[in-house]
Amino acid sequence: MPESFDVIVIGAGPGGYVAAIRAAQLGLKTACVEKRETLGGTCLNIGCIPSKALLQSSENFEEAAHKFADHGVVVEGVKLDLARMQARKGEVVSANVKGVEFLFRKNKITWLKGAGRLAAPGKVAVGEEVYEAKHVILASGSESVPLQGVKVDEKQIVTSTGALELAAVPKHLVVIGAGVIGLELGSVWRRLGAEVTVVEFLDRILPGMDAETCKAFERVLVKQGFKFRLKSKVTAAVPGADGVTVTVEPAAGGAAEELKADIVLLAIGRRAYTEGLGLEAAGVALDERGRIKVDAHFATNVPGIYAIGDVIAGPMLAHKAEEEGVAVAEIIAGQAGHVNYEAIPAVVYTWPEVASVGATEEQLKAAGVAYKAGKFPFTANGRARAMGDTDGFVKLIAEAKTDRLLGAHIVGPDAGTLIAELAIAIEFGASAEDVARTSHAHPSLNEAVKEAALAVGGRALHI
Ligand code: NAI
Repeated sequence: MPESFDVIVIGAGPGGYVAAIRAAQLGLKTACVEKRETLGGTCLNIGCIPSKALLQSSENFEEAAHKFADHGVVVEGVKLDLARMQARKGEVVSANVKGVEFLFRKNKITWLKGAGRLAAPGKVAVGEEVYEAKHVILASGSESVPLQGVKVDEKQIVTSTGALELAAVPKHLVVIGAGVIGLELGSVWRRLGAEVTVVEFLDRILPGMDAETCKAFERVLVKQGFKFRLKSKVTAAVPGADGVTVTVEPAAGGAAEELKADIVLLAIGRRAYTEGLGLEAAGVALDERGRIKVDAHFATNVPGIYAIGDVIAGPMLAHKAEEEGVAVAEIIAGQAGHVNYEAIPAVVYTWPEVASVGATEEQLKAAGVAYKAGKFPFTANGRARAMGDTDGFVKLIAEAKTDRLLGAHIVGPDAGTLIAELAIAIEFGASAEDVARTSHAHPSLNEAVKEAALAVGGRALHI
């Protein structure tokens, strides 16, 4: 008799492991299949967590080397110990993945080690073993999008995986794609001493995020030393003994040019990872972009099979996957799980950080929604001045007629933390005036949020 579960989750990333925990909390007998040696998926092992460890370490290095002096702190002979920095990153990852193992034990979730595959209706195969499942949640995540002419070897031509493992600081790093990965990992290696050139197909960085905010951010990155080649495409990257030769052409076509790089980082997006899941045999339908199709309850077209996270439509963000994991477990348990996609924040963990939640001005214009925007710069915020971090601003957008908050966009110090109060405001249907009339501690960076809310009504106090 095969062992039988109420729920089997395939994939133990932030979507899958959270779905498993919530299902177990709700009293369902739950297993989670994971083929990696450790739990936590891309995010904990080779994504969000190791990149944040290196972002923190490299920022500390840059501060000690270049910023402490401004504060009257004299540090001489600042040196980089990259081996130690990388080892620390490994320790951070290891502590996090062990934390998920602990949570599995605490919640009595069975970890089925190996690759999971839909074997038959209500059956999941893991290697030679077959298990029964009343409900299957597919949470297999995503993988890097390849680019013709650029063959990844994870040594000279790397994805984010190899870019987190470099044993030496490259002299020249060429990044293909000015998205989140390119700018975060480009920041790490620039701070540690690399020259960084980013080649981007479009005429702007971070497409999809608020244009004005990203333009201001681009200017800050240029000030930091980033070089951007916008409206350009890479047609080839050829590794050799003396580095990689990268061929760049104008996006619209034209004369090609060659760049020499020690390392090339390919970061042009990610795509749903469905290999080996047995979807075709099970009859699970995909959409036009190879993602698993689901309805508003995360159900696929096959009864009893659900999908969440990067493998379905929507932003490829760990916290979006987590919300979906909670919702789908609650739906399976007969509750009313739900995700509000209007209130999912997005953060770029550079310095300054970029953060947003809700609609952009571009989206509202396209939808014909009348809105009012209010902006407040960090140069006018006392705490930002004390920190010496005055680049950027907070911009809030409210519906013209009702004053309801529709979007918030921040570039500035700790933007990723500041955005949380605005995600709550949008979740609760707050107006700009609600935020403006809420007391914000002084002196704090959050006062810039309050001032931007006042600015929506044309009555900012400190500018
Ligand atoms: P992305 O979608 O953020 O950016 C890819 C960039 O590459 C875009 O600007 C695009 O226009 C450009 N591009 C596409 N084809 C190109 C070409 N042939 N030549 C030059 N440029 C080209 O993708 P990215 O940075 O790879 O990240 C993948 C996913 O991981 C994203 O969905 C992102 O949200 C997620 N992620 C999120 C993080 C966070 O929340 N802090 C951190 C890292 C990744």
